[in-house]
Amino acid sequence: MSQASSGSADDRKPVLQAERVSKYFPVDRTLFRGPRLLRAVDAATLFVRPGETLGLVGESGCGKSTLGRVLLRLTEPTYGRILFEGTDITSLPQRQLRPLRRKMQLIFQDPYASLNPRMTIGDAVAEGLIVHRLAATRSELRDRVASVLDRVGLGPDSAERFPHELSAGQRQRAAIARSLAVEPCFVVCDEPVSSLDVSIQAQIVNLLLDIQETTRAAYLFISHDLRVVRHVAHRIAVMYLGRIVEVGPTDRVFAQPLHPYTRALLSAMPTADTSRRKLRLLLEGDPPDPLAPPTGCPFHPRCAMADADACRSRTPALEELERQSHHRVACWHAADTGSA
Ligand SMILES: Nc1ncnc2c1ncn2[C@@H]1O[C@H](COP(=O)(O)OP(=O)(O)OP(=O)(O)O)[C@@H](O)[C@H]1O
Ligand SMILES: [Mg+2]
Repeated sequence: MSQASSGSADDRKPVLQAERVSKYFPVDRTLFRGPRLLRAVDAATLFVRPGETLGLVGESGCGKSTLGRVLLRLTEPTYGRILFEGTDITSLPQRQLRPLRRKMQLIFQDPYASLNPRMTIGDAVAEGLIVHRLAATRSELRDRVASVLDRVGLGPDSAERFPHELSAGQRQRAAIARSLAVEPCFVVCDEPVSSLDVSIQAQIVNLLLDIQETTRAAYLFISHDLRVVRHVAHRIAVMYLGRIVEVGPTDRVFAQPLHPYTRALLSAMPTADTSRRKLRLLLEGDPPDPLAPPTGCPFHPRCAMADADACRSRTPALEELERQSHHRVACWHAADTGSA
């Protein structure tokens, strides 16, 4: 069973909230003119609750990793507000952010990004526990490291190993152990299984889910693979050219996608269901240049439903079509789709 069915609307307070968060990168500065602005993330609004997974999907370059990093304040937002456990952390100085760092972690696609090749796995896991003073004595530290390694399915002798001595799957387990040893309550998982063999992917995904069950950590789970996202996410957000264009409970979004872009993404998914194949919509053309985004709805140049008025001139806001559905979409024609 997918997670989606267990996590519907509820009143748990979000661990993390983002309100119209934007990240613009200045690029292409030359001697003769100032930089142009690349809108990697544009007015993204989202929240994640304890124990919940929000899946984040969209084509390469649409701004998923940037959004993840901005939420963790590893990249500074250009505009917008980020609240962590109710506290506005948008402009909190790094010194005050430090105690919160433990609670917000990032798991990368490439485990080498978080594992120092010259440090043993045991030391890598111990490092966070030491920095955040989570073990009072040396023996407590050793015990905690052993217990975390055991939790992620690595034997006690892996503590003495170096990252290159492990298999790719074991290395990702070690990176997860390092992130989760410090007991975070919000974890950005940025394509955590994309570089692994398919046979190993399920093991790592299930490990992350098992851990969530006991820790109640909230995950922002970034992935290209919609099948993985469907399995792990309670809710799913779809990004296009820096903007969130649809968000809602996973089951709903898969059953009744409201944005034409979401429909195209879903219909490109490999499936045994032939009725779906008949409806296959193809995404035509390349994603537009983020340095010269289209006016109006960012998707309009690739959209079969686009009209000359609203779609080309005004950007639609992310809105609920049906009250209390928790399913939001940014499309001028969503009402036509929703009732179709
Ligand atoms: N430090 C940077 N300076 C300038 N532009 C950047 C920087 N980081 C990212 N970008 C640009 O911002 C946009 C979003 O990039 P990002 O890496 O967030 O996309 P993504 O959705 O994670 O892509 P992928 O699926 O390939 O990982 C891209 O156009 C990228 O080139
Ligand atoms: Mg990325």
